[in-house]
Amino acid sequence: MAARRDFLGAALAGGAALASPTLARAAGRLAGRTPSRLADARIDVLLDEPVGTIAPEIYGHFVEHLGGVVYDGVWVGERSSVPNIGGVRRALVEALRPIRPPVVRWPGGCFADSYDWRDGVGPRAQRPRRTNFWADARELRDAGVVPQRFDPNEFGTQEFMRFCRLVGAQPYLAANVRSGDARSFDAWVEFCNSPAGSTTLADLRAAGGDAEPYGVRYWGIGNESWGCGGNFTPEEYAEEYRRFVAWVPELGVDLRYIGAGPSSGDVEWTRRFFEAMDERRDLGHVWGWALHHYSGPPGGDAIRFEAPDWYGLLARADEMESLITRHWQVMGQRDRPHRVKLVVDEWGAWYAMTTNVNPVHLFGEQSTIRDAVLAGLTLDTFNRHADKVAMAAVAQLVNCIQSLFLADGPRFVLLPVYHVFAMYAAHQGAQALRTVVTSPECRWTTARNEPATMRGLNGSASLQGRTLTLTVTNPDLTAERETEIAVRGGTVRSVRATTLTARDVHDHNTFEAPHEVEPRSSDLPMSGAPPTYRFPAASVTKLELALG
Ligand code: AHR
Repeated sequence: MAARRDFLGAALAGGAALASPTLARAAGRLAGRTPSRLADARIDVLLDEPVGTIAPEIYGHFVEHLGGVVYDGVWVGERSSVPNIGGVRRALVEALRPIRPPVVRWPGGCFADSYDWRDGVGPRAQRPRRTNFWADARELRDAGVVPQRFDPNEFGTQEFMRFCRLVGAQPYLAANVRSGDARSFDAWVEFCNSPAGSTTLADLRAAGGDAEPYGVRYWGIGNESWGCGGNFTPEEYAEEYRRFVAWVPELGVDLRYIGAGPSSGDVEWTRRFFEAMDERRDLGHVWGWALHHYSGPPGGDAIRFEAPDWYGLLARADEMESLITRHWQVMGQRDRPHRVKLVVDEWGAWYAMTTNVNPVHLFGEQSTIRDAVLAGLTLDTFNRHADKVAMAAVAQLVNCIQSLFLADGPRFVLLPVYHVFAMYAAHQGAQALRTVVTSPECRWTTARNEPATMRGLNGSASLQGRTLTLTVTNPDLTAERETEIAVRGGTVRSVRATTLTARDVHDHNTFEAPHEVEPRSSDLPMSGAPPTYRFPAASVTKLELALG
């Protein structure tokens, strides 16, 4: 265990309580520029303590037929005046390629358990229009919006596969367990994976332009089966699950089934599902166990917030670590070798519908540096648990919840969360290393006037060749952190820093002003051994350290 420092006066050095709105605004403007007071922290990266390979799939995305995600966000149609590649928004494809999206989950979400995949194949003009699962969402009714009541099915399996090919991602499809059946699931697998010319469904696929099979590996068996996915008990769901995955045609593909896991801390859902599966000796049919965790609750505003909202949301997001370890421990009671991995296929911050660029874009919220810090601390948590988390998907890619982009007709903008994914792409496939962060806590006063704390600096490190990537979030609204960085077992030759912060924590990128929150990079002069780095308040940082 690396030596840790004592932090005299750490209690004082934590972020100031910002109950007053005026103070909070002032702190926001000053974030990143206020000279540190008693800031003092240390990061030890232990080169000789590898945790595991960071699955690239941890950096996955989620696309649901919900509001403006698919229609307008991803799909504009071939005849649109919006630049497109075969109907897919060109700007989206071009922005995604450099961040190497490894996997995209589709078509839901809750929508998946109402979807008949057959509606979305065959000639587009002949596809049926259906009521979308989200058509009656209370938020749309409250906003007086005539919702996108019908799904035109223009974007179906083949369009989704083309989108995946365009951006270089693997598809992850969610089956309909609530209102579909195992027969239909089998047929979907066959449509996707049967060899060219082998079956009628392969011919249907070829007629749509794709003679060769897609080789889809990842299949979610329903979604939130405790709720919109069927209101099942864990035992009932286990029974459905077993029926869906038994004797599916493999067609030469290593099929990986993902069970619809818990909402946040519902360990009973995990415990009872694993027990039910184990009692039937069928855990071998589970590759991944999905966990959903949203930070909210819905109601707060994405860009108008005060210090208690800032910290409250980030503290909720930071529960991810304990959620992973608690569910992992329960899974291990029945799966001792820990063959089944966690798949965190919905995560993000969920706000009230007050910042939508288009009211039809259900949950299409804006985002700030707060969302970037949330994304960074969540991705760092996944990296630190690279031995447990095999895949994840931020909810959702565009125009919804914790998005990377907003799009509305011809307008398109990158949000702060996009920049975090770009910075963190360096971790994909690298070796996660144990990283010990010692830092004063953040302290604040809640809206109920109670004192509260959350951890301060945190991060993760990974090694690829001789390049060490260290990513760090500083959630403190006011305190910079002067930090020693000790790499045990290596010598640092040079450091390049990329920092994402904001002049005012409420700043956000808009179609009119798209560059308000963007990262900056610079090479750092090396000083001291170990080197030190000052992490700005309210920031996400990537340090690329060249090792000798
Ligand atoms: O991401 C939005 C919704 O949140 C999903 O459809 C559902 O799975 C979750 O409750």
